[in-house]
Amino acid sequence: MALLFYSLSDSQPDWTSAIAKVMPGERLRIWPDVGPLDDIEFAIVWKPPPGLLASLPNLKGILSLGAGIDHLVSDPQLPRHLPLVRLIDPSLTAQMSEYVVMNVLRHHRFMPQYARQQAALLWQPILPPPLTAERRVGVMGLGVLGRDALAKLAPFGFQLRGWSRTAHNIPSVACFHGASGLSDFLAGCDILVCLLPLSTETRGILDAKRLALLPEGACLINAARGAHVIATDLIAALDSGQLAATTLDVFDSEPLPADHPMWRHPAVTITPHAAGWTIPETAAGLMAASIAAIREGRKPVGLVDLSVGY
Ligand code: NAP
Ligand code: GLV
Repeated sequence: MALLFYSLSDSQPDWTSAIAKVMPGERLRIWPDVGPLDDIEFAIVWKPPPGLLASLPNLKGILSLGAGIDHLVSDPQLPRHLPLVRLIDPSLTAQMSEYVVMNVLRHHRFMPQYARQQAALLWQPILPPPLTAERRVGVMGLGVLGRDALAKLAPFGFQLRGWSRTAHNIPSVACFHGASGLSDFLAGCDILVCLLPLSTETRGILDAKRLALLPEGACLINAARGAHVIATDLIAALDSGQLAATTLDVFDSEPLPADHPMWRHPAVTITPHAAGWTIPETAAGLMAASIAAIREGRKPVGLVDLSVGY
């Protein structure tokens, strides 16, 4: 039996050597050199073409190369009876929290506004710099990434809040949940961070109506998925001053097309889906553990509950 690796990213050679190192006994088939389809026992994948996984008759498990699994759930032929495992990698989590902390501090200290002033040769302090104790930072999604980001924001002294699907109790974080808790949550977010999974419930969640619930002049950091945000609504909110600035790592269409208005908008900072990266050296060992667990009939870490969609 063999493992199929599918990803069109440039890091394929790094993956081959990382997998060979931690799973020396496994035969690795790198797409498109799949070999006989009935040989494939596990698939390690990022954005496989729809139908590929359903074409593997002896598949026992599917491992996402990332934390998100929206790229798999979108396949109408996804073999939903098989274990689907998402990546929970402390090195990815640490990177995401660095990204969140860095950008919360950037927005807190008006760096996007100062970048615009610098471009205009304008010397104009925005005074007084606010205290963190007066700044409310809210995180949508209290999962692996959201909780770690909040824990790393806590030492700065921000007023923290979080929103999730089910109720949570996190010390020093005002927790809200469900559709009924969303308005109150948003109304108290000077800086909003989106770390939700993309599902039918969360697609388009940050639309004109929700953005209008934020305090005037709020900032948005989206490091989850582009489709959480209605881009035209976000641009309108920035243009009207409802939002002061935004930092976006993810977009509905990636790479972001050159003619997209976000590229040139003065209140938008863009990073190219690089907030939390999957590092082959750390992830390959976690995937080896997931494969071993499935073979032995144990529950792998990161097993997705398809009934809730994430
Ligand atoms: P996770 O552990 O599964 O956590 C998901 C959180 O979202 C949970 O708190 C969950 O609520 C909440 N949630 C889900 N559906 C909801 C809904 N309908 N309403 C309210 N809350 C909802 O996921 P994670 O590991 O933190 O990752 C989150 C996402 O980050 C991934 O799915 C991926 O899209 C994105 N990501 C981006 C990058 C990047 O580089 N930009 C890197 C990695 C991941 P409960 O706690 O109540 O279940
Ligand atoms: C990246 O976007 C991931 O889901 O890990």
